[in-house]
Amino acid sequence: MASMNTAQKVMVGGVNSPVRAFKAVGGNPLVMAQGRGSKLFDINGRSYTDYCLSWGALILGHAHPDVTAAVCKAARKGTSFGTTTSPEIEIARFIVKHVPSVDMVRFVNSGTEATMSAVRLSRGFTKRRKIIKFDGCYHGHSDDLLAVAGSGVAFLPASSSQGIPKAHMQDTLSLPFNDTQTLQHTIERHHADLACVIVEPVAGNMGVINPHLDFLKTLRALTKKYGIVLIFDEVMCGLRSGLGCVQADLGIIPDLTCLGKIIGGGFPVGAYGGRRDIMKCLSPLGGVYQAGTFSGTPVVMQAGLAVLKNLTPKMYKDLNTICDDFVGRTNLVLRRAKVKAHLVNYKSMISIRFSDNPVDNYAQARQASSDKLYAKLFHHLLRRGIYLPPADLESFFVSSRHSLKDINALGRALQDFFTGRR
Ligand SMILES: Cc1ncc(COP(=O)(O)O)c(C=O)c1O
Repeated sequence: MASMNTAQKVMVGGVNSPVRAFKAVGGNPLVMAQGRGSKLFDINGRSYTDYCLSWGALILGHAHPDVTAAVCKAARKGTSFGTTTSPEIEIARFIVKHVPSVDMVRFVNSGTEATMSAVRLSRGFTKRRKIIKFDGCYHGHSDDLLAVAGSGVAFLPASSSQGIPKAHMQDTLSLPFNDTQTLQHTIERHHADLACVIVEPVAGNMGVINPHLDFLKTLRALTKKYGIVLIFDEVMCGLRSGLGCVQADLGIIPDLTCLGKIIGGGFPVGAYGGRRDIMKCLSPLGGVYQAGTFSGTPVVMQAGLAVLKNLTPKMYKDLNTICDDFVGRTNLVLRRAKVKAHLVNYKSMISIRFSDNPVDNYAQARQASSDKLYAKLFHHLLRRGIYLPPADLESFFVSSRHSLKDINALGRALQDFFTGRR
């Protein structure tokens, strides 16, 4: 059986995406063999309750029977045709029906492609070049969007990637999240050159940060006033709260929305959609080009549809209640024990802060993070058969297949860690 030793000889860091490599927590990354419900099984047969869930993609847990059946059925009919297929149309109709900002949609193969293409579309639509993003938000790894990004980029020494020409970065302005004044000031100053503002409406790549409502409302008002395209990157947070995504939750409707993760049922996927007049600038109707051999391929679309059909109000209510209770109960215990740490969540997206101060932006998130403590916590949990994302500043996730027993085991393990019973 192939081991991590072999993997490290033939793949960079033994992984195909940097954060998987355990660099932030130390030790050898695990090689997984199977997933079922809330559990992952490594190649040695050890099981782990999984709170990484393919980085938030698996809201129904691993190998949900409806998803597996849909995938097998679709695969038997052929895997890719390079033409439009029925499941694409069905899932597009589903998204248009439920996500308030979306009149038309385009499917791609990753969240990175979705955000990169949405930015290009905004530039084509407005004929302007500058973009605003927010410190600590991560929108995938396209050149324009890697400045001061969260997630794995947070561990690079320069908080951005090498290999990106200066010209790409010159048009990217990165501002503090939740800072309405700086936002106002910057938009007033640069509005004539601004094509778009892209934001995770609930940030998840610097841990979970809930937005201040006045910040997003001001962002919506100013972008509308100056004809700047507002892009909500809901690749992670979208569909965590309900079928309408965070925008429906908050009643703030962007011009374009990026989706990914959950809508692919565990397969590579992304989508961007929005106002009809903007989407019509996209080729073949307009002059902004974007294409893909495997975009909207039927197996992925059927997997996504099978997931979406299971996202019922009851599913969300049960899942969100379990998560809110878990966070509330754990925080109470930590407060009583005078531990300088707390959990924060947006529905079933959760993270840990090693501080008792609230965290509203990337600078505060970094202050409330500790690589050392997180590494200890990560390995403490791993020993108890619990798998969290292998880096601080990542969110962790709960699926509809996690039982109360699973969640209580995590709660106990966290309490034991913070009160010294390791
Ligand atoms: C908010 C957000 N946008 C975009 C991306 C990029 O998606 P992908 O990894 O599918 O390229 C991610 C990935 O974690 C994300 O969290």
